[in-house]
Amino acid sequence: MKKKDSKTNLLDHSEAKVKLLGNYLSIYLNVLSRSPINKIYLFDLFCGEGIYEDGGKGSPMIILETIKNHYFSNNKTCPKIEILFNDVGNSDIEVEKLKIDRVKGFARKIFIPDTVKDYYTKIDYNELITKVIGRIARLESNERALIFIDPWGYKEINPNDLKQLLSCNKAEILLFLPIYFMSRFVEKSRDEEFKGGRAIRKFIQGLFGEMENLDTIKNQKDFIFKIQEQFKEFLGIKYVDTFKIERENNNWFCLFFFTTNKRGFEKMVQTKWTIDKKQGAEFKQGDEVVLDLFTEIEISSYDKKLINFIKVNGGATNFQLADFGYENNFLPTHTKKILDGVKEQLEIISNDNKPARGYYLGDESRNVTIKFK
Ligand SMILES: C[S@@+](CC[C@H](N)C(=O)[O-])C[C@H]1O[C@@H](n2cnc3c(N)ncnc32)[C@H](O)[C@@H]1O
Repeated sequence: MKKKDSKTNLLDHSEAKVKLLGNYLSIYLNVLSRSPINKIYLFDLFCGEGIYEDGGKGSPMIILETIKNHYFSNNKTCPKIEILFNDVGNSDIEVEKLKIDRVKGFARKIFIPDTVKDYYTKIDYNELITKVIGRIARLESNERALIFIDPWGYKEINPNDLKQLLSCNKAEILLFLPIYFMSRFVEKSRDEEFKGGRAIRKFIQGLFGEMENLDTIKNQKDFIFKIQEQFKEFLGIKYVDTFKIERENNNWFCLFFFTTNKRGFEKMVQTKWTIDKKQGAEFKQGDEVVLDLFTEIEISSYDKKLINFIKVNGGATNFQLADFGYENNFLPTHTKKILDGVKEQLEIISNDNKPARGYYLGDESRNVTIKFK
């Protein structure tokens, strides 16, 4: 069978990516529409074709349909939203057209609530990102922004831009990176003479300062984990999540999520784990599922970290443990599984005069301390 072209078709890995975007946006709108937030800004900076040859819907369609569904399932109400769709390219499907004009055409056929304003631009990302940073810096205290960055490669992505976007504490970012292409030449690019390593050197130096600050990469998932940890350090934030997506055999992509907002982060971790319960923190092509919860735990050493956290602090409350789990991208049910494994050695002390019969992770009505005997 002829291989589908990823420029004119929405391949499975891209579908998984936009599904996570749509699911998260739906929760984001639900939470913000019930909060004092007055206006939401959405940016889709590399928005693509809109609809692909195989009928697959790209990010703009997913965004607009999510808003439409929010409106109809909330008594025909919707928060004030401004959306910017941007793409600089010519269509690969209708060659005489710009992608952004296709997107605009498809958008006209979707119901858009009166409170929503949609804008369409064809500005080079390198120029646009400066304007977006400026706009985000001017957000009022009751305004929020969600920025979706989905380039083909990664050469435009400058970690410092992400830092500036997050610095106002009002923005969340979803960034899609082609891990396979990035990791392929990392080791070779430590040699400054290697010309093919320019782009990856620039990215790594932007994030890690020096190439030497990045330890040897064991494999693509190890690379994702190291980038994630360094993003936390570089951005000075606790909340960075990843959703790994495989395209073909061992060709990994990763959707990174950044926020300074604890609640938003918890919602994303929940969304990720519900995308496919079986697949958990990743999407894999075909039927075979290689990574599962336990592999995720292994990559991040979460079980060891959790036990160490309790020991070092001489115990931890149910709230602290739920937070610690989220910060490491795990749900309370995952943390519970690890605690169950060392149950015999644990002691649960009630702090609220009610009998303590469990860990009560994520249960705000209880207050217990869990410690090693
Ligand atoms: C991976 S595709 C985006 C897919 C899209 N998010 C979707 O769900 O269908 C990347 C897009 O970036 C556009 N692009 C490439 N370089 C760009 C640049 N410097 N500025 C803006 N857009 C660019 C391309 O035309 C392409 O449509």
